[in-house]
Formats: sequence, C-alpha cells, structure tokens
Amino acid sequence: MPRGTGRGRKGGKERVRTAKRRSAASTAWLQRQLDDPYVKKAHADGYRSRAAYKLLELDERFKLLKGVKGVVDLGVAPGGWTQVVRQKSPQARVVGIDLLPTDPIDGAVLLEMDFMDDDAPDRLKAELGGPADLVLSDMAANTIGHKQTDHLRTMGLVEAGLDFALDVLRPGGAFVAKVLAGGADKELVQLLNRNFESVKHAKPPASRKGSSEWYVVAKGFRGREEDVAADEA
Ligand SMILES: C[S@@+](CC[C@H](N)C(=O)[O-])C[C@H]1O[C@@H](n2cnc3c(N)ncnc32)[C@H](O)[C@@H]1O
Repeated sequence: MPRGTGRGRKGGKERVRTAKRRSAASTAWLQRQLDDPYVKKAHADGYRSRAAYKLLELDERFKLLKGVKGVVDLGVAPGGWTQVVRQKSPQARVVGIDLLPTDPIDGAVLLEMDFMDDDAPDRLKAELGGPADLVLSDMAANTIGHKQTDHLRTMGLVEAGLDFALDVLRPGGAFVAKVLAGGADKELVQLLNRNFESVKHAKPPASRKGSSEWYVVAKGFRGREEDVAADEA
C-alpha cells in the first residue's frame, strides 16, 4: 500500500485511516465508496461512475434507450450515463454538458460549460443538429446543508432542464431528471403532465437509500403546442 493514501486493510476489509486534514464527512464518504458494491462493479465493468447503474436500472424499467438517435446528457461528468447510452444505442448522437471537464467518449460531443449560461441551450441544439429523443438530467446543485436552499437550487436545475427538453424533444420523446425527496413540485408535475403522456417518480436500486435523490421519468412528449396547432391547421 503506497504511503499517504489514508487507506489500510483490517480483517480483509479496506479501511480509511482518518487523516489529520480530512474532515469526518470526507472520511465517511471515502469509506462508503470503498464499501460500495456499485463502485466496485463500475470499476470492473469499465464505467466511469456508479451512476451508470442508475440509468441502466431506469432503462430496464422504463425502456428509455432503445432506438434513440439524439440524446442530451445534462450534468454529464464523469460520463457514466453517456457511456451507457452509447453502449445501448451505438447509433445515438449524444451531446453532454457539465461545469467539469469530461474525458472524451466516442460518439459524444462534450461541452464544458454551465448549463445555466444563456448560450448553453443554443450550443447544445447546434451540436445535436436536430430534435432529441431523450433529454437526461443528472445535474445536482452543490448542497450547502440548508434544506430549503438546496431544494430550490436543485429544482431550478430541473426546471431549466425541462424548459430545454420541451424545446428540443421530438414528439414521443422522453425526459428524465434527478429531483429531491418529495419529488417534483406540484407546478412542475402539472407542467410535466400537460406535456407528457406518462409521468412517474422512481428511485433506482443503485441510488443510495440514505440519499434524498429520486428521478422523474416523463415519457411520450405530446409535442410543442405551436407545432401541434400547425399540424392540425
Ligand atoms: C451526479 S453528477 C453526474 C453523473 C453522471 N450522470 C454520470 O453518470 O457520470 C452531477 C453533475 O452535474 C453537474 N452540474 C451541476 N450543476 C451544473 C450546471 N449548472 N451546468 C452543468 N453541469 C452541472 C456537476 O458538475 C456534476 O458533474
């Protein structure tokens, strides 16, 4: 074991030694990572994140990825979800965006920028080059521990993601977004119900039990009102 890693073995189990400068919270996080079967499985399966299994499990239940051609991955880094999309649908063009850099993924365009920037939606649309079949958002705001503020920040990202999805999805398309416990707010659910044929909340098994994250899965986009009106005219 190299010196200074802060890791040690006791009774066959890897243990995190409490380094002087490491906070109790980050020691607990490291220990959880070492003990987590999904982290081990992700290493073995070649996924960049344990989050990959959340999308695999959501896909298993909701059949999101079959036949998709255009996919947007909001909050893509380190890239587990995009790896899954490319694996399940090798024909898909994926455009991802994250504040953090993401190592290249074959067949994906990865933008390093804030999705909340005014030009982000147009940049994503230009890279996609056509309508999307699926808009994914695993974006999480940095939490500060103040429940209401954290909730508002995360829901702000979800709302912006939905706004974007309503603009780029093709009719029949789907939108998946991480929300916090309690699910999407009433107004958001109403907006989702108006625009999609089915709206469900799900907590995939790979999502840590203690975490407050849930996912909202909206399928069967009804189409933009102006497009529907133009078709019916
Ligand atoms: C849970 S991680 C995503 C993991 C990813 N789905 C995977 O499978 O590897 C959430 C990501 O959202 C990104 N994020 C948060 N706010 C963002 C924003 N405003 N614009 C772009 N990315 C953002 C974070 O930088 C972080 O990388």
